[in-house]
Amino acid sequence: MNTFSVKELLSTNHLHQEVVVNGWVKTYRSNRFIALNDGSTINNIQCVVNFEDFDENLLKQINTGAALKVSGTLVESQGRGQKVEIQVKEIAVHGGADPEVYPIQPKKHSLEFLREKAHLRVRTNTFSAIMRVRSTLSFAVHQYFQKNGFFYVHTPIVTGSDAEGAGEMFRVSTLDAKNPPLTQEGEIDYKEDFFGKETNLTVSGQLEAETYAMGLGKVYTFGPTFRAENSNTSRHLAEFWMIEPEVAFNDLDANMDLAEDFIKYVINYTLENCKEDLEFLEQRLIAEEKTKPQAERSAMPLIEKLKFVSENTFKRVSYTEAIDILRKSKPNKKKQFKYIIDEWGADLQSEHERYLVEKHFKCPVILFDYPAKIKAFYMRLNEDGKTVRAMDILFPGIGEIVGGSQREERLDVLMEKIKALDIDEKELWWYLDLRKFGTAVHSGFGLGFERLVLFATGMGNIRDVIPFPRTPQNAEF
Ligand code: 4AD
Ligand code: MG
Repeated sequence: MNTFSVKELLSTNHLHQEVVVNGWVKTYRSNRFIALNDGSTINNIQCVVNFEDFDENLLKQINTGAALKVSGTLVESQGRGQKVEIQVKEIAVHGGADPEVYPIQPKKHSLEFLREKAHLRVRTNTFSAIMRVRSTLSFAVHQYFQKNGFFYVHTPIVTGSDAEGAGEMFRVSTLDAKNPPLTQEGEIDYKEDFFGKETNLTVSGQLEAETYAMGLGKVYTFGPTFRAENSNTSRHLAEFWMIEPEVAFNDLDANMDLAEDFIKYVINYTLENCKEDLEFLEQRLIAEEKTKPQAERSAMPLIEKLKFVSENTFKRVSYTEAIDILRKSKPNKKKQFKYIIDEWGADLQSEHERYLVEKHFKCPVILFDYPAKIKAFYMRLNEDGKTVRAMDILFPGIGEIVGGSQREERLDVLMEKIKALDIDEKELWWYLDLRKFGTAVHSGFGLGFERLVLFATGMGNIRDVIPFPRTPQNAEF
């Protein structure tokens, strides 16, 4: 007898064959119908049991969450909702799940409750759908770059540099934190540390990716990044996955073209390959929306929203134009924003970004040419001397999904910037070498993978789109 996945049983023709399937019990109704799922698809296979044929002690173990091996004949289903079902001949229990203590029961659990059960939540419909979409998106990311001549580079996780200069790093050290060795000046002596210097978990693979772009031409990273920023929001994680392409000879316009084309490709790929999961997530959202006040409901169903983004051109607007729009706008009845943009040069708050994307343009927006002083040191200075060739992509319901730029390729301009910002140039000697030997225009961007998964699944909290979220005060599991 052949063993099949639930997906194979439901999607390919095995009618009237003897089949074996393994999985976990979703429900067991009327002493007769087991809905079994093995994670291969959102749908369950119905297993029909003639209970008189089975030992009572065995049947008692068939509870929600139990793992079973079921053998029988695949037949056309009499019931509604499924085409085929298994007429069960044999059942073996791999492991039971005591209904008194197994937390995932066939009823609606809140997302907050399930976060505390992160090791079991993937057995729910919602989380299995999200994680299959996440896996498909990862595959699409690699496929896009590999098809387009990019090389995948593995940049280090432990680094000695702060790529973003934001000081939001997790220290990596083997020193005794309570009693570290001290220098004569009384400071911690990092020469005594494992690497002989201060090291941190990477906040971005960009600087190292740049070195590879200046040899391999087109590269990308896709790996974990870490930020010790204390922002407890539904959009921030302390450990998140970032995709960072970097391309030699690309300017900012080419960088924007690449980002837009890439995002559209991965969304399209997911629309084509995760149909059932997206339909399930859409229905879940529709049910959730009904519990909200009218004004807070999303205007577009999930799949329509994904199609809209993959089919429409992103709006490109300079920071200066955006500030102008915000100044002239009347965002709500009180005709004001909570944070007023009173000065050119201020960073946009998320309410401004949301206004531009959701109210004004009603489509994804690429903002470019930001004020130099609110962006990182490596971005290329424009001829005006006050803006840099930066771009952020803002998405409806998400805010910033991409941050990128054309890099400063001129050694003298970069050195001036490093001095002005009091960055230790000795730490960046290798980065500066790129500007000394065969420097060229180049650019790249970083896309926060979990923000992309948030968008694709329509979920509202970033903690629900990564298997084991790390946030302040939370690294259980
Ligand atoms: O805008 P960021 O900080 O850009 C960089 O790190 C650049 N070095 C990228 C590059 O040019 N190669 O981060 C890039 C993206 C953001 O747009 C956001 O989507 C995501 O990373 N991101 C986070 N996602 C989840 N949690 C956090 N704490 C995040 N911080 C940034
Ligand atoms: Mg950013």
